[in-house]
Amino acid sequence: MDSLYQTIINSLSSGMITVDSEGIIISANNPALVILGYNSDNEILGKSIRDVMPDSNGNINPFMESIEKKTALKRREYALKNKKGDKTYLGITTSLIENSNYEVQGVVGLMTDLTKIKTMQDKLKQKENLAILGEMTAVMAHEIKNPLTGIKFGIEYLKSILKGNDDAIESIELILKEINQLERIAKDMTNFARMPQINVESFDLVDLIEGKIKIHKPEADAKGVKMEFTADKNVPNYNGDPYLLGEVFNNLIINSIEAFDGDNDDKKIEVEIRYDENNSLFTVRVRDNGIGISEDNQKKIFIPFFTTKRGGTGLGLPTVQRIIIAHNGAIKLNSTVGKGTEFIVELPLLSGEG
Ligand SMILES: Nc1ncnc2c1ncn2[C@@H]1O[C@H](COP(=O)(O)OP(=O)(O)OP(=O)(O)O)[C@@H](O)[C@H]1O
Ligand SMILES: [Mg+2]
Repeated sequence: MDSLYQTIINSLSSGMITVDSEGIIISANNPALVILGYNSDNEILGKSIRDVMPDSNGNINPFMESIEKKTALKRREYALKNKKGDKTYLGITTSLIENSNYEVQGVVGLMTDLTKIKTMQDKLKQKENLAILGEMTAVMAHEIKNPLTGIKFGIEYLKSILKGNDDAIESIELILKEINQLERIAKDMTNFARMPQINVESFDLVDLIEGKIKIHKPEADAKGVKMEFTADKNVPNYNGDPYLLGEVFNNLIINSIEAFDGDNDDKKIEVEIRYDENNSLFTVRVRDNGIGISEDNQKKIFIPFFTTKRGGTGLGLPTVQRIIIAHNGAIKLNSTVGKGTEFIVELPLLSGEG
């Protein structure tokens, strides 16, 4: 009877955990172990659920909450870095185990792994946000361009009637230069506002990236920066837009070359491409040991026009992000000030038609 019960519990598709009134784990089925990243129930039986699923910012362990509030909880979301180090999002529903005097003896919780759904939702949200941002940028660019055209005509006219007055002409030339700068910004904004149209073809991503590294080698050499490239042997052809992805790696490599301020004598950029056959996922890492990005700035670098460089437009990374999202991919980074920065580009293998 006991083993039949065990078989049924283990064949549930959800994870199931039972804890006593102190939060000590009494049972955990196989799916629960998989979700939490353990190999056998010996590793968690007798432990406190508080240690296995700790509370963090606004993320409260639903088992303990159930016990403390003496109430069942429905579909609570809980984020966890599991034992194997994977970030997982769980949906947890709890029920109280009570004795005949309605005293809480423990809690049973059913948990479903929502990580895939959550990732999809995040991507969708990002796409929506970018679409709104694109629209706003387009409207702003338009609103800047129109009066600018009028101003330019007016100034050109003034210039024509002030012929001979060299001081005035000189000031006017300066104004015209500023206007041209504004026009350039408006043009950049218009280009950025368009969601990239991807023309899918099958091509060798390894070749493409290697080519980009070669193109930028002279700039890197000039700054005394070494560039290294490694590629997995099993990387298949990728289906995507080679021109746009070329822009992605151009931007990332240029940013890395620009990330050195001169003091370091072991300046290095490492580019690496791997292919994960199980998930049909290409991962490209562009890593430098340059100045790094502060945590504060890490939150801003994908916002259009954010730049810390003289003469930068701050449209490099936002454009990179849009192109990657248009390929259903993702971009992440790890960076430490004074140590360096690593950008990680993940591109799923799209079907031929894209
Ligand atoms: N590898 C890197 N190391 C350090 N900082 C970086 C790196 N890549 C990006 N950044 C930071 O992110 C900011 C935004 O980068 P982004 O490419 O969008 O614009 P930019 O390089 O400043 O200007 P543009 O690319 O338009 O010439 C940079 O100004 C810099 O502060
Ligand atoms: Mg840049």
